[in-house]
Amino acid sequence: MKKPYIVCNWKMNPSTGKEADALAREMVSRVDKKRGELIIAPPALFIERVRNVYSVIGSQDISEFKQGSYTGQLSAQMMKKAGASYAIIGHAERKIYQKETDVQSAEKIKRAQEEHIVPIICVGEIKKTTVSHAWHSIKKQLDVLLPSIKKGSFYIYAYEPLWAIGGAQTVDPQYVADVVYRIKLYIRAQKQEIPTVIYGGSVNCENIDSLLYYKDTIDGFIVGSVSVKIKEIKNIIKKIYGSY
Ligand code: PGA
Repeated sequence: MKKPYIVCNWKMNPSTGKEADALAREMVSRVDKKRGELIIAPPALFIERVRNVYSVIGSQDISEFKQGSYTGQLSAQMMKKAGASYAIIGHAERKIYQKETDVQSAEKIKRAQEEHIVPIICVGEIKKTTVSHAWHSIKKQLDVLLPSIKKGSFYIYAYEPLWAIGGAQTVDPQYVADVVYRIKLYIRAQKQEIPTVIYGGSVNCENIDSLLYYKDTIDGFIVGSVSVKIKEIKNIIKKIYGSY
């Protein structure tokens, strides 16, 4: 049985450590390791304490630098020591607000893998368009990112169309599946391995069923805004577990 990946990206939520603990505790009650890998990505400040409640943690970002004078940044080594075993790299919101580039993401992949952190590498087009236009832009991103992945290592790609993040526009599940399929084909041709590719962008209780229709192609989901709404996320997790 294929096991789906579910990444709960809490973004800049909740506001206190106590709330983070409570949220993690609620989620743990839903986790079934046999049915899938659930990764909680809390704000960096809360990683250590959430790690005491739940063991599979992802960081929302890491520095592209190993060490040095980079005020405000957190290294892969720090994240690892705090308890992260996964790291989201090149998230759409970092590309939009911090103007992060694929070249930076490529460096971050290397930093993560040096610390044996599994990179969750985000790719996606900026504007809503056709599958072939989207693919044109994603292929360019993959060409920058793929060479930095260590041979034989485990990594996850996350297809995250920038326009679909945060619930701005509706997502067509067929479109998602077509793009994910192309990503897999391309990586298979380049690296002779079939990658794990998940989807992120406004996943919610309304669209999860239609996205799950393509579960043979899509290997899991990043849930953002809805992942801190306990009733909804529990419902989504239940549906994902029940489908794969
Ligand atoms: P969203 O975020 O679910 O709010 O669109 C997705 C993500 O953070 O990857």
